[in-house]
Amino acid sequence: MGLDVDNTGSRPRGGAVVVDLFDDVRADLERVEQELYRRLASDRAFLQELATHLMRGGGKRLRPALVLQCARVFDGRLDGVIPVAAAVEMIHMATLIHDDVVDGSDLRRGLPTVNAKWGSGVSVLLGDYLFARAFSMLAETGRNDVVRIMADVVFLMSEGELEHSVETFDIGRGEDRYLEHIDKKTAVFIGQCCRLGGLLAGAGPEAQEALYRYGRGIGMAFQIVDDILDFSGSARELGKPPGTDLQSGVITLPVLLALRREPQGQELRDLIEGRFADPRALERAVALVRASGALEESYRVAMGYVAEAQRVLEHLPPGPARDRLRQIAEFVASRRS
Ligand code: IPE
Ligand code: IPE
Ligand code: MG
Ligand code: MG
Repeated sequence: MGLDVDNTGSRPRGGAVVVDLFDDVRADLERVEQELYRRLASDRAFLQELATHLMRGGGKRLRPALVLQCARVFDGRLDGVIPVAAAVEMIHMATLIHDDVVDGSDLRRGLPTVNAKWGSGVSVLLGDYLFARAFSMLAETGRNDVVRIMADVVFLMSEGELEHSVETFDIGRGEDRYLEHIDKKTAVFIGQCCRLGGLLAGAGPEAQEALYRYGRGIGMAFQIVDDILDFSGSARELGKPPGTDLQSGVITLPVLLALRREPQGQELRDLIEGRFADPRALERAVALVRASGALEESYRVAMGYVAEAQRVLEHLPPGPARDRLRQIAEFVASRRS
């Protein structure tokens, strides 16, 4: 399945391949890979080394796949969409490179992070380089709306991350703040990828709005599942180290829900307030979250967003491409990687 396998074939990913949900756009995703490679390639040795590293890492390519799949709901011709799909993946790569500096992570997509390999200075610069490259590709469409949509995505994402940076270890943060944060950092981005696919394929304003709402719904579910997998996944499956959110004070939905349950809640609260000075404290906190039933409850919340996203699809023209979007929504919540 598209989200389970490594598109580049360079690295095995965990999880059974059930069905390839992105089969319809497989050939175009291959063109996106080539476009990415072509745009990142450089005759400067160091830049080429960085480009090779980024291409080797692969990734699920969810965002470009959604751009392409959403375009398919309206039109079979995807030529103009390929560079935009490549640009959104480049923006995603830049956010991950910066995110790994902020989180101090040393593994991403099964490889050492840019910060682990070359340091945080290079990571900051490379992230900026990718953002700039991606926006110049978007500008090549000659469409102001396309550029503005993605500029707003990055603006909101940065705002959300800045706000969150002063909220770590804040157990009083509440679910509303959590939902707002994941909306800004993940859901709006995925929603706008879906909108862009439709917009470039000639969808009208109502259909564009429906695609946006669909993508935003699956984006919420996607991030909640990411936050669950941080407690239940393995490094092999995820290609990144699990268990790091709580350690670095990122209070996600599973933690918020576990805090509400007694008797675990009080002990968990004390452990988080102690900031895990003792490594056994972190292990204990993770065990408490797992045992509390909060992962299952979080999963139900994610499924609620999936159902909402699927309902919105009714506003789109029926056909195989729309059916695919329904299946993709389901997969987003059941993914293991
Ligand atoms: C990771 O995104 C960041 C989140 C929004 C959870 P992905 O899970 O899509 O990462 P890659 O692209 O497959 O590496
Ligand atoms: C996604 O959040 C990062 C951004 C969109 C900025 P995470 O921090 O959960 O992503 P991972 O888990 O490192 O991939
Ligand atoms: Mg992170
Ligand atoms: Mg995460």
